[in-house]
Formats: sequence, C-alpha cells, structure tokens
Amino acid sequence: AVKPAPGKPISAKAGRTEEQLAKAIASFAVDAPELSPLIAARAYRSGGYPYSDRPKRKVYEKELHGLQIELLKLQEWVKSTHERVAIVFEGRDAAGKGGTILRFTQHLNPRFVRIVALDKPSSVEAGQWYFQRYVAHLPPRGEIAIFDRSWYNRAVIEPVMGFCTPQETAHFLEQVPTFEKMLIDDGIRLFKIWLDIGREMQLKRLYERHIDPLKRWKLSPVDLAAPARWDAISAARDAMIGATHAPVPWSVVRANDKMRARLGVIRQILAQIPYEGRDDRLVGVPDPAIVLDGREFLE
Ligand code: ADP
Ligand code: MLT
Repeated sequence: AVKPAPGKPISAKAGRTEEQLAKAIASFAVDAPELSPLIAARAYRSGGYPYSDRPKRKVYEKELHGLQIELLKLQEWVKSTHERVAIVFEGRDAAGKGGTILRFTQHLNPRFVRIVALDKPSSVEAGQWYFQRYVAHLPPRGEIAIFDRSWYNRAVIEPVMGFCTPQETAHFLEQVPTFEKMLIDDGIRLFKIWLDIGREMQLKRLYERHIDPLKRWKLSPVDLAAPARWDAISAARDAMIGATHAPVPWSVVRANDKMRARLGVIRQILAQIPYEGRDDRLVGVPDPAIVLDGREFLE
C-alpha cells in the first residue's frame, strides 16, 4: 500500500527501501523482539505529517500551562453561566485520546468535568435505542463532559470489527445529524475531535505499549486487530466525517506529535467558546497545519 508520490522519479535504492518498509508493515507483530528500525524511523512523518522537527518540551510545557489556566477560566464561566459543554474524542487506537484528555482535565475541578469512557454495551444496552446510554452522560448545566470514544463507535470501530451490521452503521449515520441538532438546539455546545495518526506511528505506539508495563493495560483485543484493519478504518473514518460534518463540524487533529496535538485541541476548544477573561493573545488560533476542518481533511 506504500506508493511513491506520483510523478516523482524514484531511485532503485529508494524503491528497495519502500519495499522493505511495506514488508515490515505487513509482518508487524506487537510481541516481536524488536520494532523494525524502518518503521521507527518513518513514524514521525507518517501519514503526511507536516513537520519533521519536534517542539521543545520546555516551550510545550510553558504553553500548556498557560492554556490550562485558560481552561480554568472556561470552567468557571461554564459553572457560573450554567452552560453545557460536550467534547467528543475519536481516533484510531493509540491516537492519543487518553493522554490528550488527561492534559485537558488535569487542573480542572473534577466535580464539574466528567470523562465518559463507556465499556462495550451490556446485553440490556444492546437492546436499547443506540444513543440511549450516551444520552445519560450528556452534561447537565454548569458542566463539561468529555467522551473518550462516543456514539461514533457505530461509525468506525463497530462495523470494522464486525460488532454491528453495515445496515446499522448506515442507519446510524443517517440519524446523527438529527440527534446532534437536538443537542445543540437545546443549548449544548458540542465539539468533535478526530485525532489522526500515520500508520507507522500507530505501529510504533502499539509496540511501545506492549513493552511498557504502565501502558500494557491499554492494549486491547481491538488494538491488536487495528494494524490489519488500517484501510478499513480509513474508509470508515472518511465516510463518517462526510456524513456527519453538519450541523456539528469535525476537527481533525494531526497527532503524530503528542505535544502539538494537545496544544492544538485545547486551543481549538478555547477559541470557540466566548468565556469571560479570555487571553486572546495566548489562546490565538490553532496551527492550521495541525488542526483541520473535517471537510478540508477529506479533500
Ligand atoms: P479503547 O481503545 O477505547 O481503549 P478498546 O480498544 O478496548 O478501547 O475498544 C475500542 C472500543 O470498542 C471501545 O469503545 C469498546 O467499548 C468497543 N467495543 C469493544 N468490544 C465491543 C463489542 N463486542 N461490541 C461493541 N463495542 C465493543
Ligand atoms: C489512545 O491512545 O488513543 C487511547 O487512549 C486508547 C487506545 O488507543 O486504546
């Protein structure tokens, strides 16, 4: 599946490297004794990532600190004005949803922010209206709810893994705009983020997850199936964004670099909510090479 860019002449040597990379990807195993050095070397730029340099950690930490102070102002405003904010995080396995949510909520008052990470549906839930169990976790006034995966399971993970039928996914995609319109008409501020990583980056992270005892719990059967389903997931993602970009738009965040992704996500949310005391110079606008509008991403 790895092709040279169209029109670019490719030397025999470079062609062999691409061949070796394709082989390394095809034979990837999370429990192999080592990660292919070729995959490791390509991870950062994979999937068309726009930067080759990493940001300085000191600079990232300083920016994050400032943005976390802004998030506290946002939370204070949500509390005092009885607003309701819901943020949906989606993305492939190992895209960095958990880590981004952790930084987002790190300094917030836990009483007024909720992380919703639901397990697979129980047999009772499986017999309900599909949206039902998510509705129960929508934010009450004064609160922020963060969904670590969401109703969008039915658009990507479930059909790709065979947990639902293609008809159920089609029906879901048709219902989403109506469902989300009801939420926003009722005053919920809804944001939808897709964290996007390249193929080699996913493999590198899954491999690292396997050897790190602190991260191993994250490695689920769904994760282990992810590499072989790369193309199916890409297709499901694109169909999902295409069908559900209105009335609530998707933001696609290039997430090969976790630091840039986290800053981009937080900025994207802060920039769209008119909370009191916003430091516009600090918040600014997210880097347009990192945070894309869903439709722009599909082009
Ligand atoms: P995560 O990536 O969020 O840590 P997993 O990789 O274990 O979690 O699973 C991905 C998603 O697939 C989760 O939202 C989980 O609830 C869902 N899932 C797992 N098994 C099933 C199933 N049999 N039916 C429906 N959804 C499932
Ligand atoms: C992520 O890293 O995207 C999520 O936290 C968890 C996962 O990939 O299973």
